[in-house]
Amino acid sequence: MATDTNHIALMFNDIAPTYDKLNHILSLNVDKSWRRKAVRRLKKSLANISNQKILDVACGTADSTIQIAKTVEDAKIIGIDISDGMLKIGEEKVEKLGLNDRIAFCKSCAENIEFQDDTFDAVFVAFGVRNFSDRSKGLTEILRVLKPNGTLMVLELSEPQNVIIRWFYNLYFKNILPFIGKRVSGNGDAYRYLQNTVERFPMPKEFMTMLETVGYQDVKHKALSCGLCRIYQAKKA
Ligand SMILES: C[S@@+](CC[C@H](N)C(=O)[O-])C[C@H]1O[C@@H](n2cnc3c(N)ncnc32)[C@H](O)[C@@H]1O
Repeated sequence: MATDTNHIALMFNDIAPTYDKLNHILSLNVDKSWRRKAVRRLKKSLANISNQKILDVACGTADSTIQIAKTVEDAKIIGIDISDGMLKIGEEKVEKLGLNDRIAFCKSCAENIEFQDDTFDAVFVAFGVRNFSDRSKGLTEILRVLKPNGTLMVLELSEPQNVIIRWFYNLYFKNILPFIGKRVSGNGDAYRYLQNTVERFPMPKEFMTMLETVGYQDVKHKALSCGLCRIYQAKKA
């Protein structure tokens, strides 16, 4: 793995034990409804396909992976991530829920996915794309492993465009979030990193152009919660 990727993996290993708790505290549990909405869209995109194969890239502690398994009932899902710590917690959750026959995990990075071309009916990435050390390479790899007509669904945090909402957002993200993040996880840097990655993530139009440049088609996007989060959807030709 590239140095950047190693560094990111170590950071997620460090915060893995408190990741779920902090996610739900910091988003006031809204992250759950964002995931549900994106997964419902994913299910819709898979209508008429049976025994779906879905890849959850940057699956972390498997919240989305589990949501997919519960919503898309026939699907087999593979979760990949670069962090052993995050994957271990995901594996434990899946085991507890008895979903091992539907969900498997593999340590693999988005920029070099260890699966053959045209393997998956859909690829899901929740709050992961902004962490890729080479975003364009990661999106190209995802396109490679998608089957023709397969769907990419990306869920990602974003800076709201309304000035007033952005003022509150900045106050929260730049001051309150790193403070709570440090108190609960002991790693303030990780939560400052979170804020930086959201700030550096391309604006919706720019990200959609990037998807098209890489080779995706039918690129769409939907803002959730006044633009605090966005769902991007695209297809492989
Ligand atoms: C913010 S977490 C999101 C986890 C999960 N998808 C969720 O919805 O909670 C970001 C995850 O991306 C993983 N990650 C970062 N860079 C990656 C890469 N290049 N390839 C695969 N996973 C990556 C991290 O290890 C971490 O688990």
